[in-house]
Amino acid sequence: MKISGVILAAGKGTRMKSGLPKVLHSVLGQPMIEYGQRAISHLDNQYVVVGHKSDLVIKELKEGFLPVDQKEQLGTGHAVVTLLNSDAYENDDSEYVVIIPGDAPLLRRQDIDDLIQQSVKAKVAVGIITAEVSDPTGYGRILKDGKNISKIVEHADANEAEREIKEINSGMYCFDKRFLMENIEKLDSNNEQNEIYLTDLIEIAFQNNLDTVIVQVSEETIKGVNSMSQLNEVEKTLKDELLKSHMDNGVYFQDPNTTFVDEKVIIKPGTKIMANTHLTGNTEIHENCTVGPNTMINESNIGKGSTVLFSVLDEVTIQGTATIGPYAHLRKGSVLEEGVKVGAFAETKNSNIGSGSKIPHLSYVGDANLEENVNFSAGSITVNYDGKNKHKTEIKKGAFIGSDVMLVAPVTVGEGAMIGAGSVITKDVPAKALGIERNQQKNIDGYMDRKQSKDEK
Ligand code: UD1
Ligand code: CA
Repeated sequence: MKISGVILAAGKGTRMKSGLPKVLHSVLGQPMIEYGQRAISHLDNQYVVVGHKSDLVIKELKEGFLPVDQKEQLGTGHAVVTLLNSDAYENDDSEYVVIIPGDAPLLRRQDIDDLIQQSVKAKVAVGIITAEVSDPTGYGRILKDGKNISKIVEHADANEAEREIKEINSGMYCFDKRFLMENIEKLDSNNEQNEIYLTDLIEIAFQNNLDTVIVQVSEETIKGVNSMSQLNEVEKTLKDELLKSHMDNGVYFQDPNTTFVDEKVIIKPGTKIMANTHLTGNTEIHENCTVGPNTMINESNIGKGSTVLFSVLDEVTIQGTATIGPYAHLRKGSVLEEGVKVGAFAETKNSNIGSGSKIPHLSYVGDANLEENVNFSAGSITVNYDGKNKHKTEIKKGAFIGSDVMLVAPVTVGEGAMIGAGSVITKDVPAKALGIERNQQKNIDGYMDRKQSKDEK
């Protein structure tokens, strides 16, 4: 038996009050529509009804998910009419059609499978997922005649008594395709919102004595995102689950409330994540690290046993055990080998820092290659930018860069060389040499006594 899946994702999401299409808002670093796609990716065919800013939504569709353009968004019923009449759907050979909204990221594949199983077994015209909720405001209400569902009334159209009903429509259905084809054109927009409601098909099924089935799930499962505060609620639910699974896997979180971890992040056992830490993108933290407090790591790979304290890292690779921070800023393309230390108020960018090298305080290292065991002292920087182009600095093994040094790139400091404090280095320094660029110091004897007697006059 073939079953197709459809995600309705053409709506603007007016209540979000945001320029971004609703289904593209991020939930744990993934666009909301990603979750819907997961829930139906195992079905035989997949379609996504797109409309508002469709080009942006289409970019987030996985292989096999065919977009169907609903140019004007006249309601959920109209979205399905558009699908059924589309070229993409023309050769669809399924017997059942699962329809889900694009704004319910807590929905699981298991819920869809339960819905399909019960709908197919009972050969119903339509199976529907519902839930009893504490606050049904905004949802369609389930009206019953005995055990059967007789009608769905949208919140906007419901009278006072109907608004008291706590069982609501999830917007997730499994339709017998023939029933859908035969009845979809009957829908109209004679309602409070002047929209073509998909939900009116329930009443049509009931009036024609066709079988329906209700699959009730928890309130959480079907939570729809219509507003920023609902987005926050579902994200929080998914975050709690995610952190719990990391904890089960041996990761410690000092304060889950102030910790934010994207879904794709990998954290190995034995690692401790301290308060107020944000781990985003394709970040991987290896075993036995301590990260945070107050740290942001994006798209980075952190080697075993490293410590990252009060720091910001973006597109960084730490190949071994490193000590970072407090207050370090490691930017795109920083690659740190074993035993590197980058300390307070140091910034690196597009640079390789060889094993055992240290940049302990107040430095900028950009477009540089530091071989192993280089000491890059306080206040020193690579002058990598001449206002037009970036240039490379090369520092060979064991070189010692004194404090307050400007290495004006392109420039090379040879193996084991030393640079005197306060130098502006514009020429290559050979191996083992001392590079120094500094005026002779002058001491003026008795100056302060003379100054004082002059001031007193
Ligand atoms: C819908 C249901 C309501 C249910 C609720 C569950 C209808 C009429 N109402 O209401 O019974 O309780 O979902 O969350 O179906 N969409 C389109 N094209 C359109 C209109 C909407 O693709 O023309 C998409 C939206 O992008 C969204 C989904 O359909 O992903 C649901 O639309 P939305 O406007 O959020 O419907 P609700 O008012 O929440
Ligand atoms: Ca909705």
